Amino acid sequence: MVGLTTKSGARVSRLGFGAMQFGRTCDEAAARAMFEACLDAGINHFDTAFSYTGGASERMLGGLVAGLADRMIVASKAANDRPATRANLRDACDQSRARLGLDCIDLYYLHRFDDDTPLEETFGALTQMQAAGIIRYIGVSNFAAWQVMKAQAVCAQFGTKIDAIQPMYNLVKRQVEVEILPACHDQAIAVCPFSPLGGGLLTGKYGDGGRGRLVDDAIYAARYGQPWMHQTARDLCGVAGALGVDPATLAVAWVAHHADITSTLISARSVAQLQPSLLAMGLDLPTDIYAQISALSQTPTPATDRSEAV
Ligand SMILES: NC(=O)c1ccc[n+]([C@@H]2O[C@H](COP(=O)([O-])OP(=O)(O)OC[C@H]3O[C@@H](n4cnc5c(N)ncnc54)[C@H](OP(=O)(O)O)[C@@H]3O)[C@@H](O)[C@H]2O)c1
Repeated sequence: MVGLTTKSGARVSRLGFGAMQFGRTCDEAAARAMFEACLDAGINHFDTAFSYTGGASERMLGGLVAGLADRMIVASKAANDRPATRANLRDACDQSRARLGLDCIDLYYLHRFDDDTPLEETFGALTQMQAAGIIRYIGVSNFAAWQVMKAQAVCAQFGTKIDAIQPMYNLVKRQVEVEILPACHDQAIAVCPFSPLGGGLLTGKYGDGGRGRLVDDAIYAARYGQPWMHQTARDLCGVAGALGVDPATLAVAWVAHHADITSTLISARSVAQLQPSLLAMGLDLPTDIYAQISALSQTPTPATDRSEAV
């Protein structure tokens, strides 16, 4: 597992907190309460994006990290509604820095792969921003492994590298195990996955007719709409019940357990919701429990499609 460090030299925490709900399902008071609960639990990694809640997420996170930034890894992402050109990247980064109140964003991701801008322009711009000290680490999000490798080759021309990737990863979304995690292991790229609860599915609340993102948001309803995913959530609740642990704690701990995962991004709308995810900070799953949970969904076929042959 590859590490990232704060400006003051501390290693990134096993869990990070994602501020995507700031200004949406969570107001200033709930944001501060969750931020403080995260600090108490030892979290030093906070994630936001240019596109979240029209800038409110970056502004609210900026207010919370004020004066603490040297002890934090604050991550944001470039605008994902425009091409990743030199001018657009610099402009969005300057706006994000202003909203966050930071001279330097510790970890700056491309939010998505851009088919239309030459990689030399995009990564040349990020290299210049890194050299200018306005970003520290270069990250990519929602990239395929071949896109990571292509971009990594361009970075090498500029004497830099991709430091981190932010992919989706949870018990019902395991595609990263096929190509992304082996590629990141090989390239010493830190992996900071999002949606460890499948947007809330793996809390088990939808089995009880609960409400939340999978009901209110059509994209998440479609992403987690397959019946087998809901069965996996029910099965996870069964394992959790037998162990006397909250299913959300198990779901987050399962993602964080993988040897190639650096820092898993949790989130919630309140401290009460966040608490079970936070408990995964201190839960190292025993090997047999990890295997039991892994067996609740299909392990994806290896990229070579030769799992039966040594
Ligand atoms: N790079 C990207 O494209 C990308 C995409 C998504 C997320 N992210 C990042 O990753 C972070 C985490 O992602 P995520 O929010 O999808 O994570 P997640 O852990 O899969 O889902 C969190 C959601 O689950 C529900 N939840 C959490 N705890 C609960 C509990 N105890 N009981 C019931 N419901 C509970 C809440 O939603 P409801 O209350 O609405 O049900 C909460 O907002 C984000 O904040 C963001 O920083 C990045």
